[in-house]
Amino acid sequence: MAGRRRHLVLIGPPGAGKGTQATRLAAEQRLCRISTGDLLRAAAQAGSDLGRLAEDFMARGELVPDELILDLVAEELDRPGCASGAVYDGIPRTVDQARGLAGILGERGEGVERVIVIEVPESEIVRRLAGRRVCKKCEKLYHIGFAPPKLEGVCDACGGELIQRHDDRPETIQRRLAVYREQTEPVLAYYAERPGVTAVPGDRAVDEVAASIRHRLTAVGSGA
Ligand code: AP5
Repeated sequence: MAGRRRHLVLIGPPGAGKGTQATRLAAEQRLCRISTGDLLRAAAQAGSDLGRLAEDFMARGELVPDELILDLVAEELDRPGCASGAVYDGIPRTVDQARGLAGILGERGEGVERVIVIEVPESEIVRRLAGRRVCKKCEKLYHIGFAPPKLEGVCDACGGELIQRHDDRPETIQRRLAVYREQTEPVLAYYAERPGVTAVPGDRAVDEVAASIRHRLTAVGSGA
């Protein structure tokens, strides 16, 4: 493998725009995107043992056990598509996952270069998640208000059907927010003690958030 791999972590509450920004950032920086949410949904759709187990946690808005997540991430990292490194979308979500990720990278002589925290108020999150639609086929994201498809219910990119995620129902959104506060906010404290951490305001237009992330990537020190 030529050169040291890069590892960029995006953290934020549900609906902060991690998936939206991670997709852009990975394309711009020529890194793979590791989205544990997408991997778990794909496993559930495929009906694998992991998928069946994960489905239940996800439907309730609870976190899937750390060991399963860390195994999934280690496996993804060894894919040829991740030869230059990765943008992490949805991991780490617990302090044990943050330590586990550091361990997986450490075994490979690597480490997290940057942690970008996307900050969005809860009222905006609820609006975003309630309006989110996703293509069943290619997983492209839409929002019925801010980023609608040209034709209602149909993906602009591939013509696939647009669906609402099961966990975007109001009661599950509230549970996911509570889980974020209880289990993921402590990860921010874990990273705050390390260099390379920066926060960006996420309640702006998608292009503006992307520009802030790009700016911060060149502006802060590394080594989380
Ligand atoms: P996951 O899929 O990771 O969901 P999440 O973290 O709750 O985040 P979301 O995907 O809901 O939102 P996002 O921040 O990516 O925002 P997006 O870009 O889509 O996880 C789902 C479940 O899987 C978890 O609950 C858990 O059960 C399990 N899981 C996953 N990872 C795990 C882990 N590591 N450990 C344990 N369990 C795990 O944007 C949202 C909407 O807003 C979209 O419609 C988008 O178009 C719109 N939007 C985005 N940015 C903007 C903007 N700037 N302005 C206006 N609209 C915007």
